[in-house]
Amino acid sequence: MAYEYITTETQDGVAIITLNRPKALNALCAGLIAELGQALQSFDADAGIGCILITGSEKAFAAGADIKEMTDKTYQDVEAEDFITGDWEVLSKVRTPTIAAVSGFALGGGCEIAMMADMIVASDTAKFGQPEITIGTIPGSGGTQRLTRAVGKSLAMYMCLTGEFIDAETALRSGLVAKVVPTAELMEESLRIAKKIAGMSRPVARVCKEAVNVALETTLTEGVRFERRVFHATFAFDDRKEGMEAFAGKRKPEWNHR
Ligand code: CAA
Repeated sequence: MAYEYITTETQDGVAIITLNRPKALNALCAGLIAELGQALQSFDADAGIGCILITGSEKAFAAGADIKEMTDKTYQDVEAEDFITGDWEVLSKVRTPTIAAVSGFALGGGCEIAMMADMIVASDTAKFGQPEITIGTIPGSGGTQRLTRAVGKSLAMYMCLTGEFIDAETALRSGLVAKVVPTAELMEESLRIAKKIAGMSRPVARVCKEAVNVALETTLTEGVRFERRVFHATFAFDDRKEGMEAFAGKRKPEWNHR
């Protein structure tokens, strides 16, 4: 598939989507978002893919929604097209585990897309921010919600109300990212994690992801109840039996992804 704003490749069960609009620091124009949605849906439907890795360039993961494309839109326009919905939200809905490998700027919609991934691995140069207030608007793709859940109220308020960026170490300390690595090692380490996930039983990884996500959307009692039922349900998978037999037999499991 030939794309204009992204590139894609696969490696050992991992799909890599690279945002590729360097002149605009990967600003998320409609064309880029449509291609991202399309690539995500097709990899999510591919039984050979066990993890999807999204990255940008060394200078920018993505500098946000395309401001120039938004400037002349009216309320009627954005309401009618339900702007920042549809393809923008595909990443939050795919069932395959996802990783955002972030170097440089992850701002506005860029930070929001990164936060839709299941985890963020950051380079030590990464900068996260929700600067929408500086251009007279507010985050529109989950920034006020996912950021607050990730880092807590005070830091989220600081970022959303001042528009100031936080660095990779602050992002790590506050729980926004899973890991920080030197820039030169970002892809190697992100791919190592992605390949490890892709090496698990795919249906088990999918339900594991689903259970973790439920934690953000329900009470502890309901969440634990959901987890227990899903845990019980894993006993219906061939791979659950294979995993435990392999442990007892001191060998590597051979998943059949069923
Ligand atoms: N939209 C459109 N174009 C953008 C862009 C954006 N979000 N971010 C950068 N660009 C373009 C610049 O206009 C510039 O293009 P030209 O060369 O044609 O002038 C090019 O990318 C390089 O950018 P700069 O020259 O500004 O690079 P810099 O290194 O001096 O600064 C930056 C980098 C701090 C990231 C700065 O570009 C910037 O502040 N960008 C905007 C960040 C922002 O406000 N993002 C939020 C967008 S709103 C949003 O995302 C809403 C939502 O919730 C979904």
